[in-house]
Amino acid sequence: MNAPLQGHTARNLTRAIFDTVLEVDRVSLEYRTPQRVVRATHEVSFEVDRADRFVLLGPSGCGKSTLLKAVAGFIEPVDGRILLDGQAVRAPGPDRIVVFQEFDQLPPWKTVKQNVMFPLLASRTLGRREAEVRALHYLEKVGLSAFADAYPHTLSGGMKARVAIARALAMQPKILLMDEPFAALDALTRRKMQEELLELWDEVRFTLLFVTHSIEEALVVGNRILLLSPHPGRVRAEIDSHRFGLHSLGGAAFQQTAQRIHRLLFEAGAGEAGSPDVPGTHLAIQPQERAS
Ligand SMILES: Nc1ncnc2c1ncn2[C@@H]1O[C@H](COP(=O)(O)OP(=O)(O)OP(=O)(O)O)[C@@H](O)[C@H]1O
Ligand SMILES: [Mg+2]
Repeated sequence: MNAPLQGHTARNLTRAIFDTVLEVDRVSLEYRTPQRVVRATHEVSFEVDRADRFVLLGPSGCGKSTLLKAVAGFIEPVDGRILLDGQAVRAPGPDRIVVFQEFDQLPPWKTVKQNVMFPLLASRTLGRREAEVRALHYLEKVGLSAFADAYPHTLSGGMKARVAIARALAMQPKILLMDEPFAALDALTRRKMQEELLELWDEVRFTLLFVTHSIEEALVVGNRILLLSPHPGRVRAEIDSHRFGLHSLGGAAFQQTAQRIHRLLFEAGAGEAGSPDVPGTHLAIQPQERAS
């Protein structure tokens, strides 16, 4: 990665200089049903560098989850390509772990520790003994050591979210994929989880691809934000948000950037239909924006 080698293509050189983990290159994604073809994204391109906290932001239905599923290897692009460390993504693999919104993704008959160990064992990444050590290590990181032998139904929503994160990080994936992971939580717990995720990132420096439709959450969690247009998703802009975090909430620069993002997302009359009706800095049209 230090000295670019002779014979490298421009793309390889860029990857080497910026330490690119994920390249999404003019990717179009579709769903085919017997009745019709739904285009979810159209020629979307972006690159995620190592230790980025890269956010996909856009209104409901713009194809964020579909993009994440494609990176995870569950859906194949109809056009374009997805490269992970330079290799084409063709199928799901233990180097890409997804944390979904529903925490009932934790099998209820397994304890917290067994839940975290399960993917390590199922993918034959580690033997039982090492998997247990790894699981306990990450449970400690998310503050759940005392609950290692508890069953999921005895945990709060925030605690289940922590187990899902510990389980994903324990796999030490090349990229952690999160699809609105805190959307089902109450506002206070959601804020706490954002804080904890950033603390964890500070400690572990994992590479994150995070989906949200909250402008505020994007600014808090991300260092880079890709803005997608409404259905079908196309890239509107990329925003550098590395200077924002929980500390900047409510500050003038934060508000200005949030408003700028809002305008970028909804200029050209987009967003009247299909945007979620959520208050604050979610992607609902504010009255003053409508008037302007
Ligand atoms: N299994 C499916 N079959 C057919 N169409 C689908 C399927 N899943 C999603 N779609 C369509 O693809 C488009 C993109 O959906 P997707 O779930 O990726 O949006 P999203 O940006 O994640 O939205 P949200 O913010 O509501 O989660 C939408 O028009 C949706 O109706
Ligand atoms: Mg979605």
